[in-house]
Amino acid sequence: MPDENRTFQRAGMTIRVFSDAGAASRAAADLIAEAIRGAKPDRRAVLGLATGSTPQKVYAHLAAWHAAGELSFRDVVTYNLDEYYPIQPLDPKSYRCYMHRHLFSLVDLSPQAAHILDGTVPEPFVADHCAEFERWIAADGGLDVQLLGIGRNGHIGFNEPSELPVEEALALPTRLVELHPVTRADAVREFGGADKVIPRALTMGVKTILSAGSILMLATGAHKADAVAAALNGDPRSGLPASLLQTAGGKVTWLVDELAASLIS
Ligand code: PGA
Repeated sequence: MPDENRTFQRAGMTIRVFSDAGAASRAAADLIAEAIRGAKPDRRAVLGLATGSTPQKVYAHLAAWHAAGELSFRDVVTYNLDEYYPIQPLDPKSYRCYMHRHLFSLVDLSPQAAHILDGTVPEPFVADHCAEFERWIAADGGLDVQLLGIGRNGHIGFNEPSELPVEEALALPTRLVELHPVTRADAVREFGGADKVIPRALTMGVKTILSAGSILMLATGAHKADAVAAALNGDPRSGLPASLLQTAGGKVTWLVDELAASLIS
């Protein structure tokens, strides 16, 4: 059992605080492995996956358990949250490449079972592609578990802060978006220069994310403390998309380390 310091409820959600990022990541990996092992015999486990620096340790655990013969992805289907647009799948900065590097090449997941929004779809066909992505998720029976990270601006996937009425923000579908300045600034290191950051992306919608059977929000590090506290305090609002998780109440678990939890009041 990872080193867990405390658990409490906030707006119907469960908040689990761990001593450090390693322990929080281990807890996320445990819950994903549980979802895989707990899938009914006639149904594949349907995982919603995230990219970024935070989930890398989660994937390292899953890959290690697979290497040890303890976990198989044979009966798993995955859907990723987002992808830059436009981008080629073999571009090392694509999330397709990221997933290959950190998980897909290390486990026995069938390539046909790994779904990532396609950064090469010509723009006139993007809306159809996004609608099709949602139909695939529905045809697989919906996401059993969605792993999320939080941006410093409170984004989930690439659902960025907006001024939409809450009902409209909650109904946002999978779509093409413009990245928020904070998101672009955070991507500078990854892209090697501000002018090199791809400013648009395809993202799973808020509605799609909130429809998952269970939602795991993993947030670690002091740089996430402001966003975590803001998402847990106050009402759900479109200006801080992670606060919209409050509306999914009981199916949301926050896995945070002490640094990311430090401003929760
Ligand atoms: P990070 O990104 O894990 O790289 O901090 C999280 C996010 O933006 O969702």
